[in-house]
Amino acid sequence: MADAEELHVTEDGSLTLKDEITGELYHNRAGAFTEALANFVQPLNLPGLEAEKRQLAFLDVCFGLGYNTFVLLNELAKLKLHAESIKIVAVEKFPKPLLYISSVLADDRFAKLKRSIEEEAPELLAGKYGQFSFSLSAGSGNLKVELELLQGDLREVVPQLLSSCSGCFDGILHDPFSPRRAPELWTIDLFDCYRKLLISSSGKVVTYSSASAVRSAFSLCGLSVRRTPAVGGKSGGTLAVLPSADGTISDGLPLHDDEITKLAGRAGVPYRDETFSKNSAQIVRERELEQRLKFPS
Ligand SMILES: C[S@@+](CC[C@H](N)C(=O)[O-])C[C@H]1O[C@@H](n2cnc3c(N)ncnc32)[C@H](O)[C@@H]1O
Repeated sequence: MADAEELHVTEDGSLTLKDEITGELYHNRAGAFTEALANFVQPLNLPGLEAEKRQLAFLDVCFGLGYNTFVLLNELAKLKLHAESIKIVAVEKFPKPLLYISSVLADDRFAKLKRSIEEEAPELLAGKYGQFSFSLSAGSGNLKVELELLQGDLREVVPQLLSSCSGCFDGILHDPFSPRRAPELWTIDLFDCYRKLLISSSGKVVTYSSASAVRSAFSLCGLSVRRTPAVGGKSGGTLAVLPSADGTISDGLPLHDDEITKLAGRAGVPYRDETFSKNSAQIVRERELEQRLKFPS
């Protein structure tokens, strides 16, 4: 049974947890719901999705309490899309946050979604990993939702997805603990997998971090880097987009001049983990060495 005293209520009434290992809250104090909407779902520009697409697919990395997935489904249900089905692959290493899914969905803002899940996929409310399908009434009729909730370390799961899901995701929501606490989850090598997993013309990765090491890693992988508006954090987050054939990008905001300058400097040296097996201390040490070599003071 979930441990109620570990739950914190954020300013918008939604819930968050404190991680026992890093000491970080899962969300900023402005609110888990607000953060999911403003930092992850709105930057994906769902109304701008190709109108004729029949199936949409998203990867929710570090599912936690599930706010990013649930807010994404809420917002998709408001749109008049031609899509008939939505596939969400979600990755979460630890079973504990899943035990709070029923508390998260008790929020009135999820009422419609909760009813569908209760009727068609009640095991999800019990906090289980697995494959779940349910329908969701949307602006355009009934949407079929397929949620695959995978247990595992994202450094193992993401490279494995390349064999089955290359070029299939419209969006990737990247939400681990901060780069300072978990640099192994913010490496150029992981982001290169993301680039391969994205749908070719319009796929995008969204994350709350604005760290130069993170932005430069996306850029070095061939993704165009944009800024997302600030919520909670002062500097906003990051949208990394596969450029369209004509090179135009309509989503997100351009980086400020000082942000671009930083990418080419010491702060822009990325975290690296070619084998997906290094520990965080080794990753940080090797980055510091690369910084000293490239930018001797
Ligand atoms: C910031 S929280 C994510 C919040 C979540 N997106 C939500 O909406 O509630 C980070 C999550 O990453 C999970 N996590 C930590 N290390 C991981 C790893 N190596 N692979 C996958 N998940 C991990 C934690 O258990 C935690 O649930």
